[in-house]
Amino acid sequence: MTIVITGATGNLGRHVLQVLLERNVPADEIVAAGRSLEKLEDFAAQGVRVTAMDYDDPASVAAALVGARKVLLIAGSEVGKDRPGQHRTVIEAAKAQGVELLAYTSTVNADINGTVLGKDHKATEAILADAGVPYTLLRNGYYFENWTDQIQGTLAQGALVGSAGDGRVNAATRRDLAEAAVAVLLGDDHAGKVYELGGDVTFTLSEFAAEITAVTGTSVVYKDLPAAEYVALLTSFGMPQALAEIIADSDQGLARGELLAQGNDLRTLIGRPTTTPADAVRSAIAAS
Ligand SMILES: NC(=O)c1ccc[n+]([C@@H]2O[C@H](COP(=O)([O-])OP(=O)(O)OC[C@H]3O[C@@H](n4cnc5c(N)ncnc54)[C@H](OP(=O)(O)O)[C@@H]3O)[C@@H](O)[C@H]2O)c1
Repeated sequence: MTIVITGATGNLGRHVLQVLLERNVPADEIVAAGRSLEKLEDFAAQGVRVTAMDYDDPASVAAALVGARKVLLIAGSEVGKDRPGQHRTVIEAAKAQGVELLAYTSTVNADINGTVLGKDHKATEAILADAGVPYTLLRNGYYFENWTDQIQGTLAQGALVGSAGDGRVNAATRRDLAEAAVAVLLGDDHAGKVYELGGDVTFTLSEFAAEITAVTGTSVVYKDLPAAEYVALLTSFGMPQALAEIIADSDQGLARGELLAQGNDLRTLIGRPTTTPADAVRSAIAAS
């Protein structure tokens, strides 16, 4: 059975490839598709089939999906691009192949999520609903790594900065979300399902700052900024304006509670409790 992972060069895609290999899927049944194939040399060395795929190049998408039985469509990441249009290219190519299942990495609460990114996911979900391909929605929650990748800076400043107010969220690690994606790809009763994938523990960013303090012994407080000030701060660090606006917009969604996943789908799919905030912080520090 050939399983194609799109966007395989990214952080989530690499976790998915790793988990597939750990689950003893034969490497030659895994196709890792992406634009920058040099990023996949380590997986190619393990026998994974590596192939070019650019969502903006329909011929590359069609070629990469030849023989696919299952597809994980990892949403594109380019700010300002017509991401639903890019995803449509993959969905139509998967349909032409008659795939058994297409799993799509959507976002939590995509139907009511009013963030800019949420609207792209909602539009993609609508394309899938009309496409006639068996599909599963992996509505991925907010990554812990969105905060923990900057853990050393957070500790140095003694502040976690954002624009999320007192909104509650239940973040998840990419690794946990990758395990959920693999459970769906390797299972056989997931077509038509919608999974809201959040962690077991809900928290505000003030509570998350307190958790960082407890784990590290370094005092960290949450500093909340109005969205415009947060954008200005991020751009002052050199972040492009469009990306800063997307991040602040996501925090506004978090403030409205739209990034809080209901239920326990993630825990159920991965068959264990999800990674705790404390463990997410510990791993980030160990890796930094
Ligand atoms: N839940 C969250 O908190 C959260 C946070 C950030 C992003 N996301 C979403 O989840 C997705 C996966 O997360 P991630 O951590 O793996 O993001 P990531 O590390 O930024 O990876 C994004 C992936 O999308 C690929 N991509 C972008 N445009 C493409 C195109 N035109 N054709 C083919 N591939 C393209 C990138 O390819 P290259 O390597 O060639 O650039 C990369 O493989 C992201 O793309 C984004 O939609 C979710």
